[in-house]
Amino acid sequence: MGRADLAAIAQISLSPNHFWRAIYACMAILKIARMGHPALLVPAKAVDDPAAPAVQALVADMAETLEDAGGVGLAAPQVHVGLRLFIYKVPASRAGDGADEVKLTAVFNPVITPVGADMSMGWEGCLSIPGLRAAVPRFDRVHLSGLDAAGGKIEKEVSGFEARVIQHEADHLDGVLYTMRMSDFRYFGFNEETMRFEFPLPTIVRASHDQ
Ligand code: NI
Repeated sequence: MGRADLAAIAQISLSPNHFWRAIYACMAILKIARMGHPALLVPAKAVDDPAAPAVQALVADMAETLEDAGGVGLAAPQVHVGLRLFIYKVPASRAGDGADEVKLTAVFNPVITPVGADMSMGWEGCLSIPGLRAAVPRFDRVHLSGLDAAGGKIEKEVSGFEARVIQHEADHLDGVLYTMRMSDFRYFGFNEETMRFEFPLPTIVRASHDQ
């Protein structure tokens, strides 16, 4: 589709501003890189200005892509953009233990620091590894700092499913997939099979220096 086609669809003039608006109106769902694509293995670069129009447009497209794919998180490298940015949400059904849902949130330049040494195994999927899931060890509680979509500071301590999601998404910014965090490949399989046979997950066995 060419520039003239886009302009015709949007019934607008060909001024650059309108052209880009037409692009975003027509092409909001981005292609997601799948495991094996090198884009998923490259550490991403910091975002200078989260409020920049091009970055805001990217966030909007990522939100639409996530909605279309039906996931809970998406990192920019997954859509072939090497920037330190992810979006995530925690639906009420996944929050667990009375925790609140988290509406769709964009996080820029995140720094994640474990709070305590406790880790748990939990099931994870990834839009870049469709059809599969695995039990992955993650810290139970982490501190998240970064910037929000308006450039404001994020400082929060999170636990449970939310902590798992942001650890997973932040890993994408360092070129790390959940498969690289797995400790037991017996708990890796197709969604249909692993969901059909509900079996207890292994507990974390701590190294002696952690005790
Ligand atoms: Ni992922």
